[in-house]
Amino acid sequence: MFGRLKALPADPILGLLAKYREDTNSKKIDLGVGVYKNEAGHTAILDCVKKAEKYRNDNEDTKVYIGPTGSPIFNDEMSKLIFGHHKVLLENRARTVSTPGGTGALRVAAEFIKSCKAGATIWVSNPTWANHTGLFEAAGLTVKTYPYYDYENKTLDFDGMLAALKEVSADDAVLLHACCHNPSGMDLNNEQWQQVAEVAKSVGFLPVVDMAYQGFGEGLDEDAYGLRLMADSVEEMIVCSSCSKNFGLYRERIGAITIIGQSSSAVDVANSVLLYVIRVIYSMPPAHGAALVETILHSDELRNQWHAELKEMRDRINGNRQLLVDKLIEKGVTRDFSFITRQMGMFSLLGITPEQVQQLQDEYSIYMVGSSRMSIAGIANSNVDYLAESIAKVL
Ligand code: LMR
Repeated sequence: MFGRLKALPADPILGLLAKYREDTNSKKIDLGVGVYKNEAGHTAILDCVKKAEKYRNDNEDTKVYIGPTGSPIFNDEMSKLIFGHHKVLLENRARTVSTPGGTGALRVAAEFIKSCKAGATIWVSNPTWANHTGLFEAAGLTVKTYPYYDYENKTLDFDGMLAALKEVSADDAVLLHACCHNPSGMDLNNEQWQQVAEVAKSVGFLPVVDMAYQGFGEGLDEDAYGLRLMADSVEEMIVCSSCSKNFGLYRERIGAITIIGQSSSAVDVANSVLLYVIRVIYSMPPAHGAALVETILHSDELRNQWHAELKEMRDRINGNRQLLVDKLIEKGVTRDFSFITRQMGMFSLLGITPEQVQQLQDEYSIYMVGSSRMSIAGIANSNVDYLAESIAKVL
């Protein structure tokens, strides 16, 4: 059986990690996978997580099955984090269940959409996270793209996006990034979200919002503004969220899927299908990460500490954006890279060629995704001179 298989190339993002780890150059820089790093280049466990872990260790008294929804406390806290005081919660039209990471939420969303309509089409932005297309296709959806990033002007092709969304069919789904667009860092502003929400309402497509970076853009509520606006306008919607980045719980695999229905009874029917979808894939989600998140969100002290730690990560990333742009100018680069400071979250597309990306890797041990996506968190005061000099050389 296995003899029929052909080897596949390494994942474009995760493959970089392995190469970086093997590289013996002491100057190597990892701008690949989207994980937060501190000034020392380390992805430390948040203090609030450490405290929550101690609390759980002392207080947890069973490891018995918890069921396909996961912990109801976690689900409740997550829905408040995502929606605040939104009417969808007051009207009891939302159901949130925990999933194995944000990727698990997306896969469950895809299988759920397939239950609504076999072979349904989902539209994703051009470009989008490298794993979106494979993930949706693996679940049997048809993936199409709408214009999003204007590579030439390093801005949003909003007219192109809106025109394309007006043409999608009412029983298609459309994937939107809530904030910190991966890979471009180019987000919709509030007015643009309003316009997209109006198109979603008039066309009737299903918005599927991927929120992997809540709190990494402008703030927890600010980053959810667009999806809350969307939920004001449409009757049905899906949100996939992740605790990997904002709680630093990457390897614990904890995220959530929220479905919004037309009414409380309609969403109960949809939720029964969602739970079936989960049961036949992985039965029930892992519990540890959810237990940490609910402990943090349930305690005023730990929640405040989390807000402070999240702000520190956000501010460092934003500071890195300006730092790199200033250094490039200092090293004599005349090309305008100021767009990097206007983008949000973990990533920007540097806009250099795949050959130049490869040269940075081969000759300077600087690792970024082939599309020239940089994880801005990998920049530090200690490596920015070398980074800017190396970019100047390959340019
Ligand atoms: C990324 O885009 O680098 C992250 O979302 C990690 C991943 O799984 O690709």
